[in-house]
Amino acid sequence: MIEVKNLVKEFTSDEGVFRAVDDVSFKVNNSEIYGIIGLSGAGKSTLVRCLNKLEEPTSGEIIIDGVSILDLKQEDLLRERKDIGMIFQSFNLFMQKTVYDNIAYPLKINKMSKADINKRVMELLNFIGLEDKKDSYPSQLSGGQKQRVAIARAIATNPKILLSDEGTSALDPANTQSILSLLKKIVEEYKMTIIMITHQMEVAKDICDRIAVMEKGKIIEENTASELFKNPKHAMTRSFIKNLSGPDYESGPMFTDFKNPVYRLAYLDANYNEPILSKCIRKFDVDINLIAGNINQLKERSVGYLVVEIIGEEKEREKAIDYLKSQNISVEVVEHE
Ligand SMILES: Nc1ncnc2c1ncn2[C@@H]1O[C@H](COP(=O)(O)OP(=O)(O)OP(=O)(O)O)[C@@H](O)[C@H]1O
Ligand SMILES: [Mg+2]
Repeated sequence: MIEVKNLVKEFTSDEGVFRAVDDVSFKVNNSEIYGIIGLSGAGKSTLVRCLNKLEEPTSGEIIIDGVSILDLKQEDLLRERKDIGMIFQSFNLFMQKTVYDNIAYPLKINKMSKADINKRVMELLNFIGLEDKKDSYPSQLSGGQKQRVAIARAIATNPKILLSDEGTSALDPANTQSILSLLKKIVEEYKMTIIMITHQMEVAKDICDRIAVMEKGKIIEENTASELFKNPKHAMTRSFIKNLSGPDYESGPMFTDFKNPVYRLAYLDANYNEPILSKCIRKFDVDINLIAGNINQLKERSVGYLVVEIIGEEKEREKAIDYLKSQNISVEVVEHE
C-alpha cells in the first residue's frame, strides 16, 4: 500500500515561495488503479515526481508497504526506486537504442546475466505484442508502439508500482484505448499498482478504480469512480464530468423553458433493472417529462444520467424526490439560468 501523508512541495524563486503540492494525503491499495485528474498547473506531475523522489518533498511522509521512503539512505533508496516504474507523455525512449536494447537497459543496470536479460526482454516483447519490432529504432515506431516499449521498459524489473504521467496524452483515441488495455493487463497479470495522472476524464473513467481531483496543489475530491460520477461534489469535478457528458449534464439554455423544476438524476447500473420512474409516477401524483439522458461506462460499473422535469404540486414533487433518493438515485435541481 502507498500512503501519502500531508505532502508539501514548495519551489523557491526570486519571486518568493510557491506551493505546488499543498498538504496532500491519500492512500492507494495494492493492485489498484488510482487516477489523479486536474487542470494544467494543478501540481499533478510534481506530486508523482515526489513519489519516486525525482523531486525532494518539502515536508510530509510517503510510506510504501510500511517503509517511509523519505528517510531512506541512498543505497536503500535505489532499491526502493527499482520498485517504482514510470512512463511519460513524451515516451522518453533512448533514440539511439533498438527496442530490444531500450527494454534491456534497466536489466543491464541491475546486472542481470545476458541469458536472463534475453529471456525477460522476449517475455516483455510478447506481453506488449511487439516481438516483430525488436530490432527497430524508436523513430520507426508509431506513438502507441513507442509507449508500449516505454511501458515494457518501466515494468522490466518487476516494480510494485507504475506511475503514468499523462501516458496517453500524446496518443489518438485508438492508441489510447490500447495503452489503457495494456495497463489493465499489467494489473491483472503482474498485480502491479498504478497511479495515473491525466487531465482527461475519459481516460480516468475507463480504467481507474478511484479518482482524486487536484486543484491548486490540493486534492479537492476523492472517490470511487462510480461514486464520483454519480455524486460529484466539487465544481471542478462537475466540469470534468460535464465536458465528457455533453450539454445534458447540467444547466444550459435548453433547460430554461420548463414551468416546473428540472432535476438531474444519477444512478448506478444496479438501478437499471428497476422500473423506478414508472413506479414513482404511479405512487405519487406527478408526471415526469424526459428531457435528456446518457450513460458513462466506467472500468467496472456504469452511471446513468437523466434530466427530467417533474410536474405536479410541490408536496407531491417532494414525495416523489424522496422516493427517488430512497432508491439510491442522486437527485439535484438543475439551476435555471
Ligand atoms: N521546478 C520548478 N520550479 C518552480 N515551479 C515549478 C517547478 N515545477 C513545477 N512548478 C510549478 O508548480 C505548479 C505545478 O506544476 P506541475 O507540473 O506539477 O503541474 P501539472 O498538474 O502536472 O500540469 P500539466 O497538466 O500541465 O502537466 C506549476 O505552477 C509549475 O509552474
Ligand atoms: Mg504534468
